[in-house]
Amino acid sequence: MNLADRVKTLTPSSTLAISAKAKELKKQGHDVIGLGVGEPDFNTPEYIIKAAEQAMHNGMTKYTPSGGIPELKEAIINKFKEDNELTYSPDEIIVTTGAKHALYTLFQVLVNEGDEVIIPAPYWVSYPEQVKLAGGNPIIVEALEENNFKVTPEQLEKVITEKTKALVINSPSNPTGMMYDQEELAKLGEICVKHNIFIVSDEIYEKLIYTNDEHVSIAQLSDKLKEQTVVINGVSKSHAMTGWRIGYAAGSAQIIKAMTNLASQSTSNPTSIAQYAALAAYEQAETKAMEDMKKVFSERLNLSYDLLIDIPGISCVKPNGAFYLFPNVKEAVRLNGFDNVDAWVTALLEEENVALVPGSGFGAPDNVRLSYATSSELLQEAGKRIKRFVENHQA
Ligand SMILES: Cc1ncc(COP(=O)(O)O)c(C=O)c1O
Repeated sequence: MNLADRVKTLTPSSTLAISAKAKELKKQGHDVIGLGVGEPDFNTPEYIIKAAEQAMHNGMTKYTPSGGIPELKEAIINKFKEDNELTYSPDEIIVTTGAKHALYTLFQVLVNEGDEVIIPAPYWVSYPEQVKLAGGNPIIVEALEENNFKVTPEQLEKVITEKTKALVINSPSNPTGMMYDQEELAKLGEICVKHNIFIVSDEIYEKLIYTNDEHVSIAQLSDKLKEQTVVINGVSKSHAMTGWRIGYAAGSAQIIKAMTNLASQSTSNPTSIAQYAALAAYEQAETKAMEDMKKVFSERLNLSYDLLIDIPGISCVKPNGAFYLFPNVKEAVRLNGFDNVDAWVTALLEEENVALVPGSGFGAPDNVRLSYATSSELLQEAGKRIKRFVENHQA
């Protein structure tokens, strides 16, 4: 069948693909440790589940406004005020079917055929694909490991052309876990203002920071930056709610209206029940459940980092947040006699039943992504297996 051109070059999400492969092997009886997943292994806190149950019993099972229920928009507005010192009105907020769909919808309304969107690599796998689906050209800028995977103002200036429409910033980042500080954001922001470039600021990992660094939204640095930025966030990672599919975007009323119109013709609205669950999540702000989850993630980060850097040929920049490590395995791959990281990752899965995601999908072919959203026992065992694999293949 002759499918539409736009899907012919579309690659499926590499992170979902590795999870699927690991699950399949597990089903066949293999003792697989899956470190590919991008979601907390914790259950959604009980008070949120109760709120969803209550919403169903109260008849909140019907269509809602396309941009989200007013109560949830209000709660999101309060969250922005308290956490980010940002003031938005309801017409500057849209609730979406996960943060992923907020991004998809945003690129659809922002990007014209041939427009360029600057994406620092390593990047989250969906940005380039979503830009391409909107007819745009992803312009990849390599944020160097020696600069903690952060793009510099000089690098940004160099790739700007008259076709540049937007810059994507993801802090804390998936896959590196690195964060930009206020000064770094201010410098990047200055360039965007000078060239009139939109900023897509994906802040989905805002609540998962394990160092003393403060999360800063680039939108809060000046009125001009706020005008030019659309902030993306959601409850998936912060409240262990990946399956509920609630995200949101905040930006100028003009952009949000266009996004809402598009949503009205595609999804109609995010699930009514999940919106009430997200409302409960925000009404109780920082709960003990969230604090506990963060503490456990922080312990696992230290544990898995120590295990990794002890393996010959593996080095790793220690992240600030999210729940990933993004080690450089180039030297291990060479020492082990493999042609590339992808082949090394496949052999590791087949021989030792440890699933990692190759960095190629994130625009960083010398690295792998390891998610530590799994138990300490399994992380310990995975560390042991990776070390054994590397040592067994030593030439
Ligand atoms: C950087 C980043 N942005 C957005 C998303 C999408 O979040 P959601 O599950 O709310 O669609 C993810 C999920 O993996 C992510 O890592």
